[in-house]
Amino acid sequence: MDWHQWHQGYQGGGLAGRLPLVQDQLRQALTETRPGPIMIISVCAGQGHDVIGVFQDGPRQADVRARLVEWDHRNVAEAQRRVDAAGLGNIEVRQGDAGLTDAYVDAAPAQIVLLCGVFGSLTEPDINRTVGMLPQLCDENAQVIWTAHRSSPDLYRQASAAFDRHGLTRRHTDPDDRFGVTRHQLVTQPTPLQPGRRMFEFADEQTLIDIGRITLS
Ligand SMILES: C[S@@+](CC[C@H](N)C(=O)[O-])C[C@H]1O[C@@H](n2cnc3c(N)ncnc32)[C@H](O)[C@@H]1O
Repeated sequence: MDWHQWHQGYQGGGLAGRLPLVQDQLRQALTETRPGPIMIISVCAGQGHDVIGVFQDGPRQADVRARLVEWDHRNVAEAQRRVDAAGLGNIEVRQGDAGLTDAYVDAAPAQIVLLCGVFGSLTEPDINRTVGMLPQLCDENAQVIWTAHRSSPDLYRQASAAFDRHGLTRRHTDPDDRFGVTRHQLVTQPTPLQPGRRMFEFADEQTLIDIGRITLS
């Protein structure tokens, strides 16, 4: 997958339809977060469309900071260009492996975590492990916004089951939303971040075909 090319979907493709749904949930999460500083972590942030858009006109602008973690240097450069163009000094764009807890040192615990466009590239055990480790990224009552396209038969069900299994509470879902934009809240206790732990690795293409995440046309 060319993850730089993938972002062209924001220019009028399917992602352009998903973006406002994610941004609505981010605005809602910001509105519902208790008074005080807010840290947002975006896992596999890509070019940062969702977060950057909301920082420009969303609620709680004086309170909010973000760390965007992205591997592809082209996407990192584009996200940084967009952050600079908007004059958003409170967003840190970091090139790194978002699947390792090291990426979140000095950012966790966050009040809001985004996992958008991540689960579709993970095996079910990695989805489960990632959700199970969210208490290391999250502050008390943190909100987690995630997506899982419903065109892949098992994906949304597997991700939802992982959130249920690990005791997060569902705050928003819309069964008619094909993008599966969903918001959960941590209701268990956060746990300290343990550096050097792996949450996930993007699966290779053959694995994604084998488990039915993608089909070759
Ligand atoms: C489907 S895109 C989602 C991007 C963004 N969250 C969005 O919704 O617009 C997945 C992104 O994950 C990035 N990625 C893949 N493996 C990664 C890793 N180990 N660490 C950080 N980013 C990774 C890719 O480069 C790509 O930009």
